Amino acid sequence: MDPQASGIDLGAIAGPNLTPVLGRYFERSWSHGIGHRLYDTDGKAYLDFANGIAVSALGHRHPAVTRAIHEQVDRLIVPTAAIGFSEPVVRLAAELAGTFPAPLDTVMFLNSGSEAIEAALKLARRTTGRAGIVAFRGGFHGRTFGAASVTSSALNYRAGYEPLLPGVHLLPFPAAYRDFGGDEDRATTTCLAALDELVRTTIPAEAIGSILIEPVQGEGGYYPAPIRFLQALREFSTAHGIILIADEVQTGYGRTGRMWSFERAGIVPDVVCVAKAIANGLPLSAIVSRRELQVRWGRSAHGSTYGGNPVACAAALAVLATIKSENLVENAAARGAELSRGLGAIAAEDPRIGDVRGPGLMIGIELVKDHATREPDGDLASALMAGCADAGLLVLSCGRDHNVIRLIPPIDVSPEEVGEALGILDRTLASLPR
Ligand SMILES: Cc1ncc(COP(=O)(O)O)c(C=O)c1O
Repeated sequence: MDPQASGIDLGAIAGPNLTPVLGRYFERSWSHGIGHRLYDTDGKAYLDFANGIAVSALGHRHPAVTRAIHEQVDRLIVPTAAIGFSEPVVRLAAELAGTFPAPLDTVMFLNSGSEAIEAALKLARRTTGRAGIVAFRGGFHGRTFGAASVTSSALNYRAGYEPLLPGVHLLPFPAAYRDFGGDEDRATTTCLAALDELVRTTIPAEAIGSILIEPVQGEGGYYPAPIRFLQALREFSTAHGIILIADEVQTGYGRTGRMWSFERAGIVPDVVCVAKAIANGLPLSAIVSRRELQVRWGRSAHGSTYGGNPVACAAALAVLATIKSENLVENAAARGAELSRGLGAIAAEDPRIGDVRGPGLMIGIELVKDHATREPDGDLASALMAGCADAGLLVLSCGRDHNVIRLIPPIDVSPEEVGEALGILDRTLASLPR
């Protein structure tokens, strides 16, 4: 028995007081995490391929991160952004900027992914003087009003909150498997034509301030944006003075086998939104752009009391140092290839798997009722998620129809753990009635 196992049913205690608004994938009671395992209050261990939804990219209680947090707690906790500088903040700005290609060199720290999106949209509106925003259907960018206005991965994020931010135009996203019969080229051409039509019929390109995209659509179903699509958006934005914003909140930090997933397309966005894995669990986010943009944005044009908390920044410095010293971007690419290969072998035997996709360790398994019609099977995804948890593997679902199982292991996952996860997925899927 794990000595930390309390046996407490936290759900029963939470019942009368904790908000009923928050959705949960599981009703389990969590006690603690060690390495790549999360433990429930009964002491049962789960191989964690969910990681707080792509947050603990170095797993739980990583020694370097824990040490950095402890040291900073003993020194300074309070955010000093409004009264001056603190060491972890300025050092992290330099280290984080160093992970981006030129000319991206200037960092503003905030607290959450949604806040990073808000900041990027405000930056774009003020620096261009244009109110138009283009975003893509199926995208998820957060739940604050601005971020919800550009989100359309589920109706529940928008319904009842209208009127949302005006000036937002949602265009189709080239989700090749789901919407275009798997034809990536047709998906790209069709979705670019929709952009062309938008600026011919609805809003001139010169009234659009920003185009916002997840280089791999996350909550919407783990659909990588085709490279030609990303390149065309870059060209279009440059041609019309539009700020191209990459939402790397879920895709960033090596997860896709590149430090930033926009690198897949050989493009450089104007603004990048970063959060989730940045501090391995402590709340921190950032936007990164070229300096000139933030100079034009203007002093005090935006800010945050907590953004750039020294403890979170100290943790983030340890995360970056570990990613570099342990070559974790390369590890994500190598383990991701193994995982995809293994899943491909399972899919070859089981027609309920319609598609396995995604770069690096951001992998979606799309479950369907029928291989030919591609009718989504959300019930099977729920059953697989629940069955895997019972068998000691945590995975989550996503997608407009909740029929995609996503695998987001820690980026320092080992080949043995990849094998263990594949075994559990294979056995659990086989045990579910066809
Ligand atoms: C791509 C993307 N953008 C933005 C967000 C919002 O981040 P947060 O929940 O930290 O506000 C998320 C959260 O899942 C996300 O996946």
